[in-house]
Amino acid sequence: MSELRKKRIVQGVTGGIAAYKAAELTRLLVKGGARVDVVLTAGGARFVTPVTFQALSGRPVWSDLWDARADDNMAHIELTRGADAVVVAPASADFLAKLAHGLCDDLLTTLCLARDCPLLVAPAMNRQMWENPATRRNLRQLAEDGIHVLGPASGDQACGETGMGRMLEAEELYEDIVAFLVPKPLRGWRVLITAGPTFEPIDPVRGLTNSSSGKMGFALARAARHAGAQVTLVSGPVSLPTPRGVNRVNVTTAAQMREAVMARVRDHGIFIGVAAVADYRPAQSAEHKIKKGKTQLTLQLEPTADILAEVASLDQPPFCVGFAAESQNLEEYAEAKRQAKKLPLVVGNLVQHGMGGDENTVILFDNQGRHPLQAGPKQELARQIVAHLAQLLRT
Ligand code: C5P
Repeated sequence: MSELRKKRIVQGVTGGIAAYKAAELTRLLVKGGARVDVVLTAGGARFVTPVTFQALSGRPVWSDLWDARADDNMAHIELTRGADAVVVAPASADFLAKLAHGLCDDLLTTLCLARDCPLLVAPAMNRQMWENPATRRNLRQLAEDGIHVLGPASGDQACGETGMGRMLEAEELYEDIVAFLVPKPLRGWRVLITAGPTFEPIDPVRGLTNSSSGKMGFALARAARHAGAQVTLVSGPVSLPTPRGVNRVNVTTAAQMREAVMARVRDHGIFIGVAAVADYRPAQSAEHKIKKGKTQLTLQLEPTADILAEVASLDQPPFCVGFAAESQNLEEYAEAKRQAKKLPLVVGNLVQHGMGGDENTVILFDNQGRHPLQAGPKQELARQIVAHLAQLLRT
């Protein structure tokens, strides 16, 4: 992934058992393409040693306010200059209290005070500490000071108690950090997306489906959420985790998908039909399992409703995006589909090697013509499709 390419993040780690999750966050940020400089407090270093963070970030780790490795001996200034964000995870109750009062008696608190970039903190503490009036007061102050608080979550705590104060998981923090850092061209928009295959029952145990994995639709849902939109994802049967912050509605058949879409589409300004909806379904679904026989079995199929075409022909349609997965004549078929369904944008791809991979090659078709995107991971293509869509909405 390269969604954090060219981003520079200073990751602070304070003293708390959640520090073990901080190492995973470092790994995810680096994998996302960011340059990560880790700053450990003395308490943080009690839980995880600098060696772990140095190995994961590939960069020196900082702890000491008087560290002579900074050329001008001012690590507290140097580290945040040019940084896109300081992220403190875990942020202990003590650290938050210091921050709320502007104290700066170690490298991390001092660089937070001296920074000229956004500060995100991920609190982690016992539930009583979290609920203590002093912590509540400090958090109100931090919000007033424009500091972004990620989480915490509620759940089992290392101390054996259950409640609020658990640090978010590394993957959740990563998602929130990406969402914070990327541009927001879809802020204020509500986006409805269909994804995955549908499953049309033949009898109680069998059905007609296809090999759509749902990956492209889920990647688009994630990219649209990162771009600032409120996203509803109507998904056929897939085994993918719901992207963070996305509202998911599970359906099985094309008829259920249509119903779920039509019930919601009027509240959405953008509709993206990515699902590989069945074009035909068995005219009748047998009540009981069809028994094996020696003679031919004929299935009667009837067409399903075309959800995208129906949405696009509403009186006041949302901005509609269609997908065209073709095994040949992509350009001709995709543009014909765009015209036939009256869509401002169609994303075409050749499915010569089947569906379900992590990478794709797509061409965008709009009123201006064709725009091939460089082949790449679906998540990266999703980001580019969302950027193109936002551009079309602006013009
Ligand atoms: O006409 P075709 O099925 O090839 O068009 C594909 C596009 O139409 C995709 O965007 C797909 O999600 C959408 N579609 C739909 N309902 C159907 C069939 C396709 O929304 N029943």
